[in-house]
This record gives sequence, C-alpha cells and structure tokens, in this order.
Amino acid sequence: MRIPIIAGNWKLNKTSREALVLVEELKREVVDVGGVDIVVCPPFTALETVSDAITETNIMLGAQNVYWADNGAFTGEISAPMLKDLGVQYVIIGHSERRQFFGETNETVNKRLRAALKHGLTPIVCVGENLSEREANQTFEVIRNHCQGSLAGLSAVELGGMVLAYEPVWAIGTGKTAAPAQAQEVHAFIRGLLKKMFGEAAAQETRIQYGGSVTPENIAALIGEADIDGALVGGASLKVPSFAAIIKAAKK
Ligand code: 13P
Repeated sequence: MRIPIIAGNWKLNKTSREALVLVEELKREVVDVGGVDIVVCPPFTALETVSDAITETNIMLGAQNVYWADNGAFTGEISAPMLKDLGVQYVIIGHSERRQFFGETNETVNKRLRAALKHGLTPIVCVGENLSEREANQTFEVIRNHCQGSLAGLSAVELGGMVLAYEPVWAIGTGKTAAPAQAQEVHAFIRGLLKKMFGEAAAQETRIQYGGSVTPENIAALIGEADIDGALVGGASLKVPSFAAIIKAAKK
C-alpha cells in the first residue's frame, strides 16, 4: 500500500524567521497525525532553521532544487551532499516554474535526479502539460515525453522509492483545479507508462502526487481517486490552517 504524501512547496516565500513561525505552528497542528507522510519544502535559506525545528517530529524536510555536481566552480548552486548535511530527505526536481523560467529540460532533470538518488535524497519529479498543450490534445504526449526523458536510464529499484508529481501548469496558482476524474486519468496514464518502463512492482510502489490549486475543499475528492497518492501544495501550504486541513484529509 502506498502511504499518501503531502508536500508543501513554499516556492520563493518565507525568510528563515517567518519559516520558523510557520513550522512551529504546523508542528502543533499535526502532532497527532499518522498514516500520511508530511513534507515541507522551504527555500534553501530556511532549510537549516526548519530542519532544527522539526527534529523528532512527524514532519520531513524537502528542498526545491539540487545541482548535479557534488562541489566545484558552479557559483550559486547547491549540491545533494549539502542538502543531506542539513537533514533534507526530499527534493523537488523539474517543477514547471523551473522548466518555464530557468531553462530546465528533461536532460537536466535527469542529471539532478541521479545526483539526488546517489546521495540518498528522494526526488519529487514534476511533470505536466500547459494550457495550450491540453487544448491541443497533447496532454498524454507531453506527459510521456516528460516521464521518459526525466526518468531515462533509471533502474526499477531506483524508481520504486521515488515520488512523481503531476502538475498541470494551467492549474498552478490559478484556482483552477483539475477535476478529480481528469487528474486520475493522467495519473493512471503515468502509472501505465511506469509499468511499461520499469515493471509492475515499481509502478505500483511509486507515489504520484497531484499539484495545482489543491485546497482543503478539494483534497478529499482528489485523494479518493485510485492513482492519486497525495498532493504537492503551493499557496495553501503557506498558511497552517489550510495546510493542516489538507494533511488531515489526505489519509486514504
Ligand atoms: P498552487 O497550489 O499554488 O497552485 O501551486 C502548486 C504547485 O506548483 C506546487 O508545486
């Protein structure tokens, strides 16, 4: 059975002081919650503070990106060993905002995820179509391209421990969620693709999150779908009442 996983992607929000306030409040709200993996992904500058604050709690730490080299002359980059050193367990890779604004490609996603795996970080690999691609009926083609390109050359064992996030770009920050059945259709397609690429066991083991305007109001219907194993939450993860409500509703 796949344990649901709810991750908060804080994006470019929260100083480390603000992050501490948020996570302290979150800790109190979710202290008794079991059966759901809870992850927060603050900006790099708040990782250490948040890491210290969540020691011995049921909250885990994620980063929002990672570079593929361990060290060297790569000004401005952060490596997997650096993240590990701070207690980071998960890392978001290939978010659509990085694909859109920072030149991320399947190839660079693949390099980042290999580096993450090599150092024992669990990648959360994002895939998803934009509005014009959906309207042109290219959704499945785009998803296939993202999955095959991003996951190229991985073994079934490597895939099995990973998390994928289906984030339709048109649903991100727009308040326009994919209908549960519409999301499920893509999730089932992704799992089918994973089965072809890595075999049944690895495909069944891989958790696939939905992301894009997830709220306390729509999480239950989304998580009720067979292949939706959690959520990658943006805006609603920045406020404890909404994020905690999503977490509590995510138990299958
Ligand atoms: P929103 O929940 O704000 O739509 O963002 C989704 C997202 O991009 C999470 O990674």
